Amino acid sequence: MLSTLRVAGRTAVSRESAVRNLAVGLRASSTWANVPQGPPDAILGITEAFKADPFPEKINLGVGAYRDDQGKPYVLPSVRAAEEKVVSSKLDKEYAGITGLPSFTKAAAELAYGKDSPVIKEDRLVITQSISGTGALRIGGEFLASFYPHAKKIYLPTPSWANHNAVFKRSGLEVGTYRYYDKNTIGLDFAGLIEDLKNAPNNSIILLHACAHNPTGVDPSQDQWRQISDVIKEKGHFAFFDMAYQGFASGDADRDAFAPRYFVEQGHNIALCQSFAKNMGLYGERCGAFSIVTASPEEKKRVESQIKILIRPLYSNPPIHGARIASTILNDPALYKQWQGEVKGMADRIIRMRALLRENLEALGSKHNWSHITSQIGMFAYTGLKPEQMEALSKEHSVYATKDGRISVAGITSSNVKRLAECIYKVAG
Ligand SMILES: Cc1ncc(COP(=O)(O)O)c(C=O)c1O
Repeated sequence: MLSTLRVAGRTAVSRESAVRNLAVGLRASSTWANVPQGPPDAILGITEAFKADPFPEKINLGVGAYRDDQGKPYVLPSVRAAEEKVVSSKLDKEYAGITGLPSFTKAAAELAYGKDSPVIKEDRLVITQSISGTGALRIGGEFLASFYPHAKKIYLPTPSWANHNAVFKRSGLEVGTYRYYDKNTIGLDFAGLIEDLKNAPNNSIILLHACAHNPTGVDPSQDQWRQISDVIKEKGHFAFFDMAYQGFASGDADRDAFAPRYFVEQGHNIALCQSFAKNMGLYGERCGAFSIVTASPEEKKRVESQIKILIRPLYSNPPIHGARIASTILNDPALYKQWQGEVKGMADRIIRMRALLRENLEALGSKHNWSHITSQIGMFAYTGLKPEQMEALSKEHSVYATKDGRISVAGITSSNVKRLAECIYKVAG
């Protein structure tokens, strides 16, 4: 009886309800049922916790973006002026070429390598606009994964910017590490670094932070860079530079570009990633460049053709607005000069905050040596504070930063530095 009813029912089912039933069935065993929950982004999680905290004197030292002395995002006046020029010239919104705006990439190359660089003069430099520094790293990673003849592994310093690992893995490279930071000295483990570069197989790919190492703020000295260059040359390694902070570290764009320029001078055919997020404050405009030094104009053509083939299916061509702003600044002598002063202003404020934090900690009678706060450079300071001390800073004092003890010095202001020092003193002594 029952089975007759079922059969009768089934025959009575309309086409529409059959489709509906099918949809319900599909939902019950969804295509994505086995997608695991991923962990939240460590840095964005800090910002969320900070926003949710009602304490008025809370401090956010997690973000990797510059803040002015009032703790507010800063749009550089040179950027505002360049943007007005761009808007008032009423340019069209046509696509850029695959490698971006030539006026931008030419100027970006001169900023990185120097106006008189032989690699530009001899037409040996391949350069393409990129989706900021991250996009540049991805283009470089993908190019090396496809064409670097000797290895499929890139060595990163320990620690490195957290995204490096993911970018290179997704590019199809294996990731290895070399020693960089010594937590006992809160400085560079130079001997460990050299030993690891020597022990890596010949012709390895080595990622180097050009300046303002993130997250430690610890850079090699110029003399140490010379020694690193020698070892890399002896071993036939390939130097892949990430320069996300040119000008932002010391306030002088030429000085911050010392390492990649020195390597080029020494005959290394380097790859280089540039970002205009920090030094022009163009974070959300996603403006950057990837370049690679080749041996000849003929080789340049071949490499460039492959870079274009690689970019085309990724995002076709890059966004134009940020590149137009950067190009206007870099190609207009008056705006360029103004921008140089403003980058120096940002770098100087950060250097001042480092000094103030150290002074305040010393004035409180802290038992620790805080000299690393002022010897490190760039947006971040590696305080040497332990995860449990960082936890106490956020839970008990509403001071938010990553658990590894890294603080963004850009989040320190003349008004919060005293309280910050007191909080650090309370958790660390
Ligand atoms: C070392 C390093 N490389 C690259 C980037 C990429 O930044 P963006 O993609 O915003 O230019 C950053 C940003 O924090 C960084 O610190």
